[in-house]
Amino acid sequence: MNYQKLFFGVTQHFLMIPSIEWKDESNTVRMIDQTLLPHELVFLEFKDFRGVANSIKIMNIRGAPAIGVAAAMGMALAALEFQYMDTATYISYMKQAANTITATRPTAVNLFWAVKRMLNVLEKNLKKNPKDITNMLIEEAKGMWKEDIDTNRAIGKHGAHVLVDGDTVLTHCNAGSLATVQYGTALAPVRWAIEEQGKKIQVIANETRPRLQGARLTAYELQYDKIPVKVQSDNCSGLIMMLGNIDKVIVGADRIVSDAVFNKIGTYLVALAAKRHNIPFYVAAPESTLSLDETRKDVTIEQRDGKEVANVLGKVHIVPDGVEIINFAFDITPFDLITGIITEHGIFKHRELLKRYKSSFG
Ligand code: MRU
Repeated sequence: MNYQKLFFGVTQHFLMIPSIEWKDESNTVRMIDQTLLPHELVFLEFKDFRGVANSIKIMNIRGAPAIGVAAAMGMALAALEFQYMDTATYISYMKQAANTITATRPTAVNLFWAVKRMLNVLEKNLKKNPKDITNMLIEEAKGMWKEDIDTNRAIGKHGAHVLVDGDTVLTHCNAGSLATVQYGTALAPVRWAIEEQGKKIQVIANETRPRLQGARLTAYELQYDKIPVKVQSDNCSGLIMMLGNIDKVIVGADRIVSDAVFNKIGTYLVALAAKRHNIPFYVAAPESTLSLDETRKDVTIEQRDGKEVANVLGKVHIVPDGVEIINFAFDITPFDLITGIITEHGIFKHRELLKRYKSSFG
């Protein structure tokens, strides 16, 4: 891979490139096509909210916080398209756009949170004309983009307290820079500990079948940032803990409800193994991933096309034709397996989290 060539002769640090951006000069959403990493770094550009919705669905962009920002920017594109309509039609079309965007993936709550936040701006400003509301929506989406980076850095600062010099951190899936606008959630404490505190930390990334976000994306961004990283098959998690090679586990989250954490399929098994071996297991996520008025029964776990399992990266077919495939994209980790939740405001145990954030917690 020749990064210099990719950046037209300018050597750039990977972290300088956000996973998604709003381009003011052209009112365009620009994002990294994560399906092509690590082999090619290609940028997609969208002027149509339907294209952004599809990019979430087919996972050009993925990771709960990144999906949230993409959804908000998709709403801003919809507003630009409908801004010359009369107010009633504009509002009705914006609600349809919201439905299109939220229908893309069911589990990561940041998607719904972001669209709701955009609709709130719309609803609070119904007396204004559509052009003015549109400008407000663009500013809101850009504000969410900026907030995401600040939030992740705060998660990093709090989370770095649990890491000691020399630690090896196991992570599952990709909850790094690529899964957010920049900096990451689960990888934020690692970055902070290394970059701001000078600690020596290494990461072991589970490959994360079937979409291989760990092997393709976590390894890619950490290698680029010169953070020591090794990849192992998901099946190694138990053994590597038994051998005493893991000090902490940190993962991200797609939705945190009052009795469990939803994250990438395989997280639950890692948490079980960590409990067995007394290894601290942390979940790092922004407040926008909290949905504490729900329980695990309220959440739809996305089930994706069986081809993702039957064909390795859509290329090599490994299952006999006609065999049914189970392909849950996320699983459920109960709180008794979780040492703490790292948010932008600190590290919380289950009860503390409910006390701080749940609307009706006594
Ligand atoms: O299916 P994906 O790749 O969108 O799943 C991503 C994850 O499960 C991440 O761990 C989660 O979104 C947290 S990202 C900061």
